[in-house]
Amino acid sequence: MAQPETPLMSRIVALCKRRGFVYPASEIYGGLNGFWDFGPLGVQLKNNLRDAWWRDMVECPPLSPDGKPLSIVGLDSAIIQHPKAWVASGHVGGFADLAVDCRETKHRYRADHIYVFQVDYENKEGKTERLYLGSLDAGEEGKGAAEKKVKKIIRRLGGLEASIKIHYGINEVLSLMDYPPEIQNTVIGPDAEKPSLTEPRQFNLMFESKSGAIEGEAMTVYLRPETAQGIFLDYKNVLDSTRVKPPFGIAQVGKAFRNEVTPRNFIFRTREFEQMEMEFFCAPEDGLKWYEFWVEQRLRWWEDQGVKKENLFRHVIPENERAFYSQATSDIEYKYPFTAPEFGELEGVAYRGDYDLKQHQEHSRVSLEYFDQENGRRYLPHVIEPASGLTRGVLVLLCEAYQYDESRASPEWLKIKPSLAPVKVGIFPLVNKDGMPEVAEKLYMDLRKTYICQFDAKQSIGKRYARMDECGTPFCITVDGETLKDQAVTIRERDTAKQERVALDKVKSYLLEKFS
Ligand code: GAP
Repeated sequence: MAQPETPLMSRIVALCKRRGFVYPASEIYGGLNGFWDFGPLGVQLKNNLRDAWWRDMVECPPLSPDGKPLSIVGLDSAIIQHPKAWVASGHVGGFADLAVDCRETKHRYRADHIYVFQVDYENKEGKTERLYLGSLDAGEEGKGAAEKKVKKIIRRLGGLEASIKIHYGINEVLSLMDYPPEIQNTVIGPDAEKPSLTEPRQFNLMFESKSGAIEGEAMTVYLRPETAQGIFLDYKNVLDSTRVKPPFGIAQVGKAFRNEVTPRNFIFRTREFEQMEMEFFCAPEDGLKWYEFWVEQRLRWWEDQGVKKENLFRHVIPENERAFYSQATSDIEYKYPFTAPEFGELEGVAYRGDYDLKQHQEHSRVSLEYFDQENGRRYLPHVIEPASGLTRGVLVLLCEAYQYDESRASPEWLKIKPSLAPVKVGIFPLVNKDGMPEVAEKLYMDLRKTYICQFDAKQSIGKRYARMDECGTPFCITVDGETLKDQAVTIRERDTAKQERVALDKVKSYLLEKFS
């Protein structure tokens, strides 16, 4: 099927705005970089994904390899915790990205997103001199995209080839980080004309605020950059107040805040976002076994949410890129339109050892050891952490669901898994007369108790189908002229656009079967 010229991601962003999934935050004031609002359909989709995760993590956790249900409990900790907690966790000292500033344009970039390229020429004496040491900001797209962009720039410079001989090669596109500091200082910024980039410098991502009403005495506090630490702070409370014992998990969903250097790619990297994290506490000797278990579980879970297997990828993080305390980490990656054919992070599954509990134990001077009465053994449990972005997960669902088919009522439509769809059923009277609105309204009043329904009596039936397709609504029910005679309605299934005649008194069981 031919695709429109507008890039896929731009079409998805436009559909999200048009249908009320996601709006730019503070739009009437010109927007605020890195912040987005979830509209009526977006918040419902996000809640549905959150609820699916909560159900499969907390209410009905997976079975362990020995066939018994795992023990996982929920938590909702404060966004603002004691600042000492963020010192202990390492965030105050080390939660930073390397950033470079452009002295000319005053823009700031993430150093690991900057790629540098050289163009050399041969002078009259036949000696090679550097003509150009430019750079570009490749964002999440990485080296492959940088190389493509450089080729375009080189083509633009091609006019020079007539007078001077230009040498270039894609092996000259290197990450800024690979250059020695003296070269880093002579690079032309991505949007600049002259050598202008600073050397990479640490830039802390924590948002600060003040707690306390008395000026001068207010304490500097931090908006949490991850939900995980709240779990470690309450780990002992949970052990003491519930009947869990290792292996067990504590799960939490909530907002997190990071002052990202370059928020970008719609809701992929934002400064305010939501996470779904679970810390799984186990005996040290079982850590690697549970790590493998959770990587498998999480991959399968995303597939269960309707994400195609071929669009997911397990990226085993090599030792030199892992946190120093982690014995093993895998990222679950997705093929986003802006990374394709490569993949980008959706969720991380990290084996964190006892690092976090040890740090909090040392800094708080409260013992966080677990006493195993059966074996008379005292130890700090090891932790496996499946940490995923809820808002990033919504982006994955939207990218995965987006379809384009010119032969349909609406060429753009969303194939969202029915149980996650924000609206489940559209209910329409074919025309606004002959008793049809009354029957449709009665059906609506009945079904709305079980499903999120939308009653729509405006415009042509084709337009109503089109609107529901763009919202990802899996079923539309039309009450027509025949309904009063045969006590049946037409149900149209979104994915096939096929229509079926179903008796009014069978509509509920029909939907029940379809949604189960
Ligand atoms: N507790 C571990 C932790 O926070 P992380 O890899 O930094 O690990 C986990 O974050 C997940 O949170 C990521 O895989 C991503 O889905 C999401 N995430 C992180 N930063 C984000 C941001 N700026 N915007 C949206 N989602 C983000």
